[in-house]
Amino acid sequence: MPSDEFIVTPWHVEGDIDYDKLIKQFGTEKITDPLLKKIEKATGEIHFMLRRGIFFSHRDLGRLLDEYEKGKKFFLYTGRGPSGHTHIGHLVPWVFAKWLQEKFDTNIYFQLTDDEKFFAKQDLTLEQTKNFAYENALDFIALGFKPDKTKIIINTKNIKTLYPIAAEVAKKTNFSNTKAVFGFTNETNIGMIFYTSLQSAPCFIEDRPVLIPLGVDQDPHFRITRDVAPRIGRPKPALIHNIMIPSLAGPGGKMSASDESGTIYTTDSPEAVKKKINKYAFSGGQPTVEEHRKIGGNPDVDVSYQYLRIFFEPDDKKLKVIHDDYKSGKLLTGELKAILIEKVNAFLKSHQEEREKAKSQLDKFLFED
Ligand code: TRP
Repeated sequence: MPSDEFIVTPWHVEGDIDYDKLIKQFGTEKITDPLLKKIEKATGEIHFMLRRGIFFSHRDLGRLLDEYEKGKKFFLYTGRGPSGHTHIGHLVPWVFAKWLQEKFDTNIYFQLTDDEKFFAKQDLTLEQTKNFAYENALDFIALGFKPDKTKIIINTKNIKTLYPIAAEVAKKTNFSNTKAVFGFTNETNIGMIFYTSLQSAPCFIEDRPVLIPLGVDQDPHFRITRDVAPRIGRPKPALIHNIMIPSLAGPGGKMSASDESGTIYTTDSPEAVKKKINKYAFSGGQPTVEEHRKIGGNPDVDVSYQYLRIFFEPDDKKLKVIHDDYKSGKLLTGELKAILIEKVNAFLKSHQEEREKAKSQLDKFLFED
């Protein structure tokens, strides 16, 4: 693929994504300063992921906030396709969702699509995707969502609740439309073809509007949901999109749960984290120390720096020092990696403790039909 081309779909992300182009392609809206002000007015602060453009695009967020200001409450919804263990890239929208839950004091639904990953991946059994669903649920709970306002939906388990809503959506979704949106062919299994109606279902689980924080690759599903919503007498879901999180190996493509070397899992040991970052994290540094001191590094392509920016260094001042020192050549790649390793391991230490505790809490969080 030529270097200026990219593909973003729910099942395939490739190339170096130009997010302004993607906004045009998808027909979403960029998050602008006036919208940030509106968010700040409602929440009292601007989350660093908003400040830094990690969340960069939306659909109807302004309208949702206007209505909120007039007293119209909303709820939150996000999800995960359980194709493997959780990696740190998955946590980006979830951490942001938790912030939204706190600020707006809302219910949140978390959908684990064991059926979807079974349909989409040749080599996974339903048994396996179901097991990963429970594993992934622990990571979600570990982030500190409120037990009385958080419900985890597992598709094959909660189908009784989902199905009547999915049926409403399915009846208004025609094949040529999903086919165009997702590029389906005659060989595509029919589980995939029906699937969007199941991902749509939680949008209508409560009788009020929904806001969905999500990776931008998931937008096409909700484009269909939004078209259908008024036709079944429901409000269109509002969306807020985050960028794709690069794999350790570098920009161009999201972190994939199936590529061991490029991925840091939430269950990794401190030694594994150290080894992976030192060995695989793509560097924006120069080949030799002398050159690096002279020319400096490129933080824009350096994955260690990007991970600090996206997730692990919320403090803007500290991040700027790292940025400037790396760019000037004062900070070497090895030193930058050491900063990231320490941050990731500190985060994972407490995350893994919370994850253990989550095992006894799971029942409280699982949605009961
Ligand atoms: N299809 C998503 C994935 O593969 C999982 C998902 C289900 C989801 N519902 C969602 C993601 C709502 C974001 C928002 O990861």
